[in-house]
Amino acid sequence: MRKTVRLFLCTLLFAVVVTRGVSSRPAFAEEIAGQWHALFDTPGGTQTYHFDFQNQDGEVTVKAVVESGDQKRDVEFEEAKLVGDTVSFVERRSFGNRELRIEYTGKLGEKEITMVRKIGDFGSQESPATRDLPKREPAPTTPVVEVHIDRLIKDAFQDSFRIGTAGDFPARYSDQELQVASEHFNAVTPENCMKPERVHPQESTWRFEQPDALVQWATENKMSVHGHTLVWHAQTDDWFFRDGDREVVKQRMKDHIDTLVGRYKGKIQSWDVVNEAINDGGNQETGQTENLRNSKWMQALGPEFLTLAFKFAHAADPDAILYYNDYNIESGPKHESSMVLLRRLLKDGAPIHAVGIQGHWRTGSVPYEDIEKAILDYSSLGLKVSITELDVTIRGASGGQFGGGFGRRQRGNSTPPSVADLNAQAEAYAKLFAIFRKHEDVIERVTFWGLNDRRTWRFGQHPLVFDANNHPKPAYPAIVNEASRGE
Ligand code: XIL
Repeated sequence: MRKTVRLFLCTLLFAVVVTRGVSSRPAFAEEIAGQWHALFDTPGGTQTYHFDFQNQDGEVTVKAVVESGDQKRDVEFEEAKLVGDTVSFVERRSFGNRELRIEYTGKLGEKEITMVRKIGDFGSQESPATRDLPKREPAPTTPVVEVHIDRLIKDAFQDSFRIGTAGDFPARYSDQELQVASEHFNAVTPENCMKPERVHPQESTWRFEQPDALVQWATENKMSVHGHTLVWHAQTDDWFFRDGDREVVKQRMKDHIDTLVGRYKGKIQSWDVVNEAINDGGNQETGQTENLRNSKWMQALGPEFLTLAFKFAHAADPDAILYYNDYNIESGPKHESSMVLLRRLLKDGAPIHAVGIQGHWRTGSVPYEDIEKAILDYSSLGLKVSITELDVTIRGASGGQFGGGFGRRQRGNSTPPSVADLNAQAEAYAKLFAIFRKHEDVIERVTFWGLNDRRTWRFGQHPLVFDANNHPKPAYPAIVNEASRGE
């Protein structure tokens, strides 16, 4: 008996020693020790983190001085760990009575630590931490070009289509931003707060605080609301699919749609029912097929998942206009696949009324001809079209890939745009709106994905019509001009 106990203790000790050795390789701990600096762009401005990693007998501690504008704060991180070549730690911050948990993981590379910062359930960002202080031009507070507005964009197009903005209004927006949003736009799409992982993080947990506040704010400001999004492969918690057979997953989808669409019946005018179901890329062969993404919805329910989602949404609010929404569906094989898919949905009696072309484009490579043809193609199926997530970046990535652009800050692209950049962007927007106006009988709404160049998922790429300080950019009057051309 005693022998067994001794053997057990020895094994335990050995296990502890081995685990310690693995979890905190001294070489890595030494390499990482000392100062590292990283910049994180936040809606409130850029925050500079001066990290200090210390290592004592395998125990790592992480501290930082964080500069934000002319303010500084000291942070002592918790739960610091070194595992393999990765360090992780946690910052707790409170905003009012809300506790926010910010999780950091840093992977050590040749010269930098790739730092990912996950902010509660608001998403994550990536930024390199380097030994030298990073240099970055601050966003200019005076506009690069002074632009005068003599007609509001929403008024200019009031006889053509609605003009929308996206954001999780009104919480965490300044009064000035709320003013800009309600003055210039007459439609709003919640950027994140109605996505499954946010509004329905667990089967028995619903978070309606932000969605309710958004719908109320929009109603007070006479803006229509476009719900985004019910069925998607991303930003959807795994509980929907866990331990479930076909019937269980189908029931979970139905409950989700019933509750959400039902709650805002009569208050939300249209919904993105299914988002991004088609694979990227493709070729001549896949263009003949629906080429559906192998998502968990697809795995659980097969291609019928789309028809089901539309039927559930229609039953929950028969007056809502129901969309299939996707990116890059205006061009190439993905466009062909979208036509195959839409034809099938219509044939199977799915109550689908419109197609959302997301519209994440880039100055210099906007596929104008494809866009016009796609509008006509969808219209030939009897469907309406909206441009649901419009942004035209000045530089850096475009496309709607979730994961490609999501949360990542493209390096070195945060320098202010030049006058030539701004004019080229204005020209691109004007050409787009000329196409939209020409097809105003088909187009329901054109929504910008974000409010200004600070409130955008393409931060640093200056994609919108207001700059980071809410000054209109040359794109604004260029778009408005298109409304009166030929009047
Ligand atoms: C993006 C949001 O803008 C980000 O804030 C979030 O971190 C990730 O999702 N296509 C979509 C949108 O349908 O929901 C995505 O929004 C952008 C791409």
